[in-house]
Amino acid sequence: MTTQAIIEIKHLSYRYEKDIVLEDINLTVPDGSFLAIVGPNGSGKSTLLKLVLGLLKLQKGEILLFGQEINKFKDWQQIGYVSQKANSFNTGFPATVFEVVSSGLTKKLGMFRFFKKDDRQKVYDALEAVGMKKFHNRNIGELSGGQQQRVFIARALVSDPRLLILDEPTVGVDAENVNSFYQMLGELNKRRGITLLLVTHDIGTISDKVSHVACLNKHLHFHGNTNEFEQLRGEGMSEFYGHDVHLLSHQHDHGGVFK
Ligand SMILES: Nc1ncnc2c1ncn2[C@@H]1O[C@H](COP(=O)(O)OP(=O)(O)OP(=O)(O)O)[C@@H](O)[C@H]1O
Ligand SMILES: [Mg+2]
Repeated sequence: MTTQAIIEIKHLSYRYEKDIVLEDINLTVPDGSFLAIVGPNGSGKSTLLKLVLGLLKLQKGEILLFGQEINKFKDWQQIGYVSQKANSFNTGFPATVFEVVSSGLTKKLGMFRFFKKDDRQKVYDALEAVGMKKFHNRNIGELSGGQQQRVFIARALVSDPRLLILDEPTVGVDAENVNSFYQMLGELNKRRGITLLLVTHDIGTISDKVSHVACLNKHLHFHGNTNEFEQLRGEGMSEFYGHDVHLLSHQHDHGGVFK
């Protein structure tokens, strides 16, 4: 029996105005996998996620979600998303953790409805899953960046998605807590069977946490399981980042970029 693909991307290209930022991407994300997308700044990672989420219009190629063409796909509550900017949150925003997470339900059900008992439980369950239940009454602005990020993940989880897409979720998380953060994601993946698609720069710490890695730099330079990725890393970092990064680090050597 073959496992169903949650996402299938075929010959996908995308351009903003004249600039081609993605070219001929082919990528399949099987059900139950935990895929990390890595690549340098500007390599098209967020663009790829936005195309998968239907936030950008498909220009060339195909995207299938749960086996269905993205243009016909309607079941968006199956997909949870936390954007790259989620944690640059206005800390003065007057909402409790509970309210922020429950807004993930109103999105689906409409603003003007009352919570059922059942819905409250869903909010607590989502907070429990990210280890933030005891903060439910806290104002969102009174949490650390890493704690806020967990709350946004709970917000994405509350509608019980099968796929969770996270764009650089560890940006506000300090080095000490990155490990437990990935552990929490690993548990969502293993215990709840949620397929995870994550963009990250934490190349060093991901490979024992995720099942697959994709290296993107306009083209997909590599896609495989973590063993294959480790093997590739052994052969040198610049290889999987592609030649553009090579060029960048070259500039660093001459002091051009940060001076
Ligand atoms: N709305 C836009 N209009 C025009 N160009 C854009 C737009 N959004 C992104 N780009 C360009 O497309 C390229 C890819 O951007 P993208 O945000 O996908 O990169 P990224 O890999 O997510 O980078 P980062 O690691 O910095 O988040 C960049 O060169 C960027 O400047
Ligand atoms: Mg990005």
